[in-house]
Amino acid sequence: MSASSTSSNPDFDFDTPIDRQATSSLKWERYAGRDILPFWVADMDFAVAQPIRDALAARLNHPIYGYTVASPSLVEVVSGFLEQEHGWRIDPDWLVWLPGVVTGLAVAARACCDSGDEIMVNPPIYQHFYDSHEDRRHRLLRVPLMHQSDGRRTWDIDAMRRACTDRTRLLMLCSPHNPTTTVFSDEELTAVMSLADERNLVVVSDEIHCDLVLSGARHRPTAAAVPELSHRTITLMSASKTWNIAGLNCSFAVIPDASLRQRFCKSAQSIVPMVPPLAYTATEAAYRDGNPWRLALLDYLRGNLERIDAVLADLPELALQPLEATYLAWIDASAMQLDDTQAHFEAAGIGLNSGEQFGEPAHLRLNFACPRAVLDEGLERLVKGVHQASG
Ligand SMILES: Cc1ncc(COP(=O)(O)O)c(C=O)c1O
Repeated sequence: MSASSTSSNPDFDFDTPIDRQATSSLKWERYAGRDILPFWVADMDFAVAQPIRDALAARLNHPIYGYTVASPSLVEVVSGFLEQEHGWRIDPDWLVWLPGVVTGLAVAARACCDSGDEIMVNPPIYQHFYDSHEDRRHRLLRVPLMHQSDGRRTWDIDAMRRACTDRTRLLMLCSPHNPTTTVFSDEELTAVMSLADERNLVVVSDEIHCDLVLSGARHRPTAAAVPELSHRTITLMSASKTWNIAGLNCSFAVIPDASLRQRFCKSAQSIVPMVPPLAYTATEAAYRDGNPWRLALLDYLRGNLERIDAVLADLPELALQPLEATYLAWIDASAMQLDDTQAHFEAAGIGLNSGEQFGEPAHLRLNFACPRAVLDEGLERLVKGVHQASG
């Protein structure tokens, strides 16, 4: 495998492969000792931006790592970023710091639902939308995303309205959407919030992928698109996906309504640990100094996506969902009619997420946030897997 110099921005190196085997990386440990390249779980094989690493090193130099709160400078940086990037002006009081977005999903369910209440989700969906609250106390209403004529996936508002009962309390949105990559428009957000208002629902909007839009679409926070209904919203965000610091555990909820925020915080008490000091440090550096790196990353990811597009154009067996956001390609392999799609491709040397965990078993999810030479090797193995099935 040779690392060709393909970064469009010479100030940042996304090309050089980094050996992660010594770091107990979840992504690489799964296939340790086997000739299977990992393209599954959503973290990136790129070095974290230098300003973040410098800030961490400086914080490590102080020898005490005790309980820590969000600093005023962090709050200012995050508020400024939301306003500048997403046109969303927040009140700093609305922020609740959390060690994870999935934690936020689970806390929201506890805060908004009594035993027997219902939570609506829209499959296919990131697996923790199913299990972050599946403790048999809450019922899940699954209303699949529909296909538009161009294949784009979106909410089926009529079906969602029909599915609501008088026990439905919470609507869990993923925006941009993992795994279908949809960036929802203002019209779509308005329609879903109108339904929430009509049925008196709280809306949790998981926007962890909002700074990873690759198409010409623009992400709008749900609460910003429909400000008059923002009292119904709990928005969950994090720098973790965009700046590759998922292992550091820092995210935040934005909850404009004071009583909803209070309920949320009460439900988090004694089960949710504090955010670690290094996680705050990395998050502040990411939002304050990480934008040049992020913009270069998006360019690099677009280049990787072109590679995938080109390879899949010659493989009618695999249909790529047109990608709007995230570094996760959603691929329909149903034409191959395999019993176990993931295992089939592992046998060809490429480790992908099975669509089953998201609710569409004949799909695969391919994480393309890796050096281009590694992606090319993976794509060769993907092609091999297709040919092995037909040959
Ligand atoms: C939609 C979505 N939400 C949440 C997470 C995980 O968030 P955290 O690690 O902060 O719990 C992911 C990770 O891939 C994700 O895709």
